[in-house]
Amino acid sequence: MNSYITVRNSQRLIYRRIEDERQKLKKQELLKNMLAGSEFSLKGNCAISLLLTKLDIINTILMMESGRSVIQQKTGRLKEYDSVCKKLEKKGLDFDFAIALEKINDLIGVRAVCAYVDDIYRVADLIEKQKDIKIIKKKDYIREPKKSGYQSLHLILEVAIAFQNETQWIKIELQLRTAAMDYWANLDHQLRYKRGRKEAHVIDEELQQCAAVISSLDQKMLKIRKKIDKI
Ligand code: GTP
Ligand code: MG
Repeated sequence: MNSYITVRNSQRLIYRRIEDERQKLKKQELLKNMLAGSEFSLKGNCAISLLLTKLDIINTILMMESGRSVIQQKTGRLKEYDSVCKKLEKKGLDFDFAIALEKINDLIGVRAVCAYVDDIYRVADLIEKQKDIKIIKKKDYIREPKKSGYQSLHLILEVAIAFQNETQWIKIELQLRTAAMDYWANLDHQLRYKRGRKEAHVIDEELQQCAAVISSLDQKMLKIRKKIDKI
């Protein structure tokens, strides 16, 4: 009798595990479809276009003041399914579209590379003044770099998109950085995927040292520019 109950219980456990796994796969499939689906990608691309245009206008305004181009380069992208899954997993969250929308700030993202560090804050100030943009959160990894050495100013925004009958606020992350910070972040990103556990600590330290060099270079270039501005 006892062994009969034990078998039944372990069978139930197996069925529950299979059902859990089935539900997980269903959610994952749903997440994939929602991310690739037309509503999210259309709205996301609208938000990217709007922010890129805003940055063009801001660059023109700042150009009139300073006589040089402040934003050197800008790109926008929708986060890919695999990266969304990786981030959800890292944060210990369910593979669920609603959760991803709420908890992942950079599902929709724009990155702008500025000439000098002070240009980053000028651009951020003008972003703040836009009536159709709300700043939800500011993460200043320039004043307080991440442990990795990563530097950038992140603005989590909501941009207003006017659809036929209503205005929708769409969350989008704007990363502002200098060319030197961008160079470091791109190489760090590449190396992060390639390095194994072996020597990871040494490599982390070396990358932190490179980040310090980058930061000092940005400060020196800014000093030179300010000197020339005075002439
Ligand atoms: P938390 O880390 O949980 O606060 O959330 P998050 O990962 O959404 O925000 P965070 O501001 O840390 O990172 C957002 C984005 O910044 C990432 O997707 C990367 O694009 C970039 N980033 C952050 N940290 C690093 C880093 O150490 N190296 C590189 N290359 N990029 C980074
Ligand atoms: Mg992070």
